[in-house]
Amino acid sequence: MALLLLVLVGVVVGVVVASSLLLRWNEVRYGNGRRKEGRLPPGTMGWPLFGETTEFLKQGPSFMKQRRLRYGRLFRTHILGCPTVVCMDPELNRRMLLQGEAGGLVPGYPQSMLDILGRNNIAAVHGPLHRVMRGAMLGLVRPAMLRTSLLPKIDAFMRDHLSGWAGSVVDVQAKTKEMALLSALRQIAGITAGPLSDALKTELCTLVLGTISLPINLPGTSYYQGFQARKKLVSMLEQMIAERRCSGEVHDDMLDALLRSGNDGTREKLTDEQIIDLLIALIYSGYETMSTTSMMAVKYLSDHPQALEELRREHLDIRKGKSPEEAISYEDFKSMAFTRAVIFETLRLATVVNGLLRKTTKDVEMNGVCHSKRVENLCLHEGDKLRSIHVS
Ligand code: HEM
Repeated sequence: MALLLLVLVGVVVGVVVASSLLLRWNEVRYGNGRRKEGRLPPGTMGWPLFGETTEFLKQGPSFMKQRRLRYGRLFRTHILGCPTVVCMDPELNRRMLLQGEAGGLVPGYPQSMLDILGRNNIAAVHGPLHRVMRGAMLGLVRPAMLRTSLLPKIDAFMRDHLSGWAGSVVDVQAKTKEMALLSALRQIAGITAGPLSDALKTELCTLVLGTISLPINLPGTSYYQGFQARKKLVSMLEQMIAERRCSGEVHDDMLDALLRSGNDGTREKLTDEQIIDLLIALIYSGYETMSTTSMMAVKYLSDHPQALEELRREHLDIRKGKSPEEAISYEDFKSMAFTRAVIFETLRLATVVNGLLRKTTKDVEMNGVCHSKRVENLCLHEGDKLRSIHVS
């Protein structure tokens, strides 16, 4: 019995000593010296490899709040596989973002996001390739496209999506998710609700989880599953591209516009790999953002009947003099001042993108204490909102 107790105590002491050595090693590894120059802000780097990712994913926004209380608005941590400096100082964040590429800051997202969204995805590239990818994306939503193609299609889609709701109980969260995905798929490749959209949705959900995980490529991990989901999505998109080339038919959607872009010499021709990464980035970026914001708008409007009434009045005024099937015009869309205010207020109250990520290409000094070259990831937060910056 006494021997067992001794072994137990030995094991506990061993675990405690090993843990504190590992924690200490991780701090030393990132060179958090005592000198003021080159010193990182207060905080902890957590465990080797894992850092503080488990707490970050478990605690959500409280993770940042708690650390801000403990360490102040500028602190260090290690999340999603990246040593990170978090800044929750609005003024400093603004200054850092304004510095842009010239100030040594380029877009930079966690490794899992970069791997799973593809090496050409807009978050992974900078410099000339970023300009090419951005130009190709903006070309899809320029005012002429909005007027003649996107708006009428969104109008038709929304009528269809909303039909049959009257008198029934609706799960707003499920419906806004369905709306965000189906509306994107229709614009992107003319895909309507059915087995293909269901299959794409399954893979997209797995891919999303993979992008916010540790980049550990072992069967069973979210990263591994996200990467497998990416492979399936890529193969579905490759098949669509092959079918389009084979049939030679013209389609009024983004995939067609991308396959044709560059043919007239006005912009650079994208490779199939770039087109696929761009489409995955579009579907990914629009999914959670649009669905959550729409859901929250419905919630806020139901909480504020006066605002709902004003919104209804604006829309009924626009519909006056139109036949029931007539789509709204670009001018109608531009005239929706109150609707736009509701959207902005919803975005303010329910920030869905609560962080920006940047990677530094040189030492970055923040508040005179932090030469961030020694960390890979710098996160900028404002209040409860994450503003993230990568530093390498
Ligand atoms: C509520 C809706 C949305 C919010 C709040 C939002 C927010 C943001 C923010 C803050 C950024 C800047 C990220 C950075 O600088 O690191 C961004 C970038 C981007 N968003 Fe959104 N977004 C929304 C909807 C969408 C939708 C619907 C799409 C596409 C269908 C989209 C596509 C993109 C893309 C491609 C970028 C990267 C642009 C670049 O690097 O030049 N977003 N978004």
